[in-house]
Amino acid sequence: MFPSLSSCSSPFLRCLLLFFLLLNHSSPATAGLLGQICGKTGKYTTNSTYASNLNLLLTSLDSNTSLFGGFSKATIGQIPNRIYGLALCRGDTDASVCRSCLDTAIQDAPNLCPYAKGTIIWYDHCLLHYSNQLFLSTIDTSNEIFMYNIYKITDPSRFDKLLDVLMGRIADWAAYNSTKMFATGEMMNSTNPPFPTIYGLAQCTRDLSRSQCRQCLSGILDPRPSIFEGKRGARVLGGSCNYRYEIYPFYLGASTLRLQSPLETAPPPVTMAPPLITPAGKEGKETNVTDMVLAIAIPLVAAFLLISTICICFWRRKPVVKLPLDGTSLEELASAKSLLLDSSTLRVAAANFPEENKLGEGGFGV
Ligand SMILES: *[C@@H]1O[C@H](CO)[C@@H](O)[C@H](O)[C@H]1NC(C)=O
Ligand SMILES: *[C@@H]1O[C@H](CO)[C@@H](O)[C@H](O)[C@H]1NC(C)=O
Ligand SMILES: *[C@@H]1O[C@H](CO)[C@@H](O)[C@H](O)[C@H]1NC(C)=O
Ligand SMILES: *[C@@H]1O[C@H](CO)[C@@H](O)[C@H](O)[C@H]1NC(C)=O
Repeated sequence: MFPSLSSCSSPFLRCLLLFFLLLNHSSPATAGLLGQICGKTGKYTTNSTYASNLNLLLTSLDSNTSLFGGFSKATIGQIPNRIYGLALCRGDTDASVCRSCLDTAIQDAPNLCPYAKGTIIWYDHCLLHYSNQLFLSTIDTSNEIFMYNIYKITDPSRFDKLLDVLMGRIADWAAYNSTKMFATGEMMNSTNPPFPTIYGLAQCTRDLSRSQCRQCLSGILDPRPSIFEGKRGARVLGGSCNYRYEIYPFYLGASTLRLQSPLETAPPPVTMAPPLITPAGKEGKETNVTDMVLAIAIPLVAAFLLISTICICFWRRKPVVKLPLDGTSLEELASAKSLLLDSSTLRVAAANFPEENKLGEGGFGV
């Protein structure tokens, strides 16, 4: 029951495929690598000025990000060895989860994209991006990863309507009301007809202005990728903003927004007015570390687990694929490679696998 390869239909972004396995159990705090895109803006060499600037940059991002509420940016060195970078932790992580996620990212990045002057790498809890090209304070539309749950939702048209409302509100809040440019929200379940609660999250990198943040989110929400249609959960990971939605809670802390379904049919609610918004805490619980630790420990049962990630990354002509898949899938992947070899930009489509298709540890190509 492997999902077959599917191409992303975006006009200017080529597609790269990745197989992705998610389970509904276990700790978000240990979830790992989601994907990376190796830049094509040149290579550096060992012991070069660029290499030492990169080290300085990574050190700065690593030490500063968790200190500054989960975001920092830096520029190091002089042209032509100047390097720009940013790091972002998901808004519901505490400083220690943030720091350890970035520690991992900083270790992984040079291995996943050896000697690339630019790299962007996404984890469940953080994002690391560096480049010799200035990308700060602009909306990055070229680096995106799509992931979705292969399971279908029962009433897609209803789901889509609710999702539009929910994600629109979350995006507004993240852009205009949150100092972290981060918001979560839930569209509460309805009984008439029965429908699950939908949980959503959106975040921007804080080098953007508020209006750029909203614009970035609109760019990936309106419309959502067609590949997401009918799926019960999905995410877009971008260089400047990202979102995710599921029908189970996947973030820590109370939802920033709690909306009541505007589509409830039977016992006629008084009006079909816009959804009720109950801001449930300005920025979530972001100050009390003890609370956060407890919050991590308790709701893990319902949490989401990344069991393993299998990805092929087509970098120039040297795809190195480490895939513990069966033969069929390797063939499929190989054929995808030839389609995608000259990709100028990578886009990843990922699918969540049912548990019985549990895969071994995956590796990213280089
Ligand atoms: C880089 O520098 C180290 C220490 O100075 C040296 O041992 C190594 O040979 C150098 N590598 C290259 C490729 O120049
Ligand atoms: C970030 O860390 C570096 C040291 O790695 C330090 O020099 C710099 O001042 C820090 N940035 C901020 C904003 O504190
Ligand atoms: C959220 O931000 C908008 C736009 O700045 C503002 O009009 C609104 O009052 C804010 N809402 C809250 C609850 O702060
Ligand atoms: C609906 O949500 C309530 C809490 O908000 C929960 O107790 C109930 O189990 C949910 N029902 C369904 C069908 O998901």
